[in-house]
Amino acid sequence: MEKDPCYILGIESSCDDTAAAVLCNNEVLSSCIANQEIHRQYGGVVPELASRAHQANIVPVVHQALYIANIDKKQLSAIAYTQGPGLLGSLLVGSAFAKSLALSLKIPLIAVNHMQGHLLCHFIKNKEKKVPEFPFLGVTLSGGHTQLVLAESHLKMSILGNTLDDAIGEAFDKCGKIMGLGYPAGPAIDKLSKKGNPNAFKLPIPKVPGLNMSFSGIKTAFRNLVHNNISKNADFVEENLEDLCASLQMTLVAIVMAKIELATEQVNIKRIAIGGGVAANSEIRTVLKSKALENQWEVFLPKLEFTTDNAAMIGIVGYYKYKSKEFGSLNHTVSARLPF
Ligand code: KG4
Ligand code: ZN
Repeated sequence: MEKDPCYILGIESSCDDTAAAVLCNNEVLSSCIANQEIHRQYGGVVPELASRAHQANIVPVVHQALYIANIDKKQLSAIAYTQGPGLLGSLLVGSAFAKSLALSLKIPLIAVNHMQGHLLCHFIKNKEKKVPEFPFLGVTLSGGHTQLVLAESHLKMSILGNTLDDAIGEAFDKCGKIMGLGYPAGPAIDKLSKKGNPNAFKLPIPKVPGLNMSFSGIKTAFRNLVHNNISKNADFVEENLEDLCASLQMTLVAIVMAKIELATEQVNIKRIAIGGGVAANSEIRTVLKSKALENQWEVFLPKLEFTTDNAAMIGIVGYYKYKSKEFGSLNHTVSARLPF
């Protein structure tokens, strides 16, 4: 029997952030994240270290989320957790925790697709923001995925286009590593680009048919550009850091924008909502806003706190699944490549 209001505990552990959030219906009461600093020294996420850190963090993070929300775990109506996609070892920690807690509290368990969470974060209650009407074109831009999605309802989504190789966030991070920037490099590239000339270096735009995309060629071209120049001038990166960042960022954004424009024409939808860590990027936000004016698009940009991985976005999917009684079971296994 569904409760109203319902209290959902969301748990996210798909990559390197251990997160927990409590929602009362579609309103976020708390959203807590333990970032895993350990990966910085390796320049990327080390899966085994991520699983161990999730194990250490999950109990304190859930405890903190309940404490800030000021509710007792006995008041929870359901527990929503990330079933995939993501790193298997990381997903297992969150799912095992969610299953045991749901079992002990005798409340429903809800399995959530992480990518659906990145798009449904737009439906988290916010007085200042309009929510997108259906259907809309969803664009997920993260460290692991880059997808164009047709969202027909909260829970009915299908993929129109995908990256064929690296994700856009991965391209930011890998090129950042070539420049000696820390992990993840996306936020630093965004900041440094503000003072750079985006036309200083020309990088190739890959020719991929239809709505699919590719980002690995850019990474190779960028590596060659840097290495060729370093062989002539050892200080090349240092002397051109801002221009390199701005040129890279402009090219990555241009690739996505071209596909968004094509998708709006193909599906005849002018309502666009972006999500995922790269949705925090200031260039993509600016370009989308100006394209919206030019093309009469309605564009939805998520609140910054809900762009990178968080558990509030898992909780909001949990809320819609709770309302439509889409409950999971203890037999559900996590999946590194979970389809929508
Ligand atoms: O969605 P997310 O937190 O994790 C995944 O599901 O992958 O996305 C993380 C990605 C990283 O690649 C990070 O560099 C990128 O989001 N990112 C950014 C910015 N903030 C985070 N990329 C560009 N500009 C930003 N401001
Ligand atoms: Zn994500």
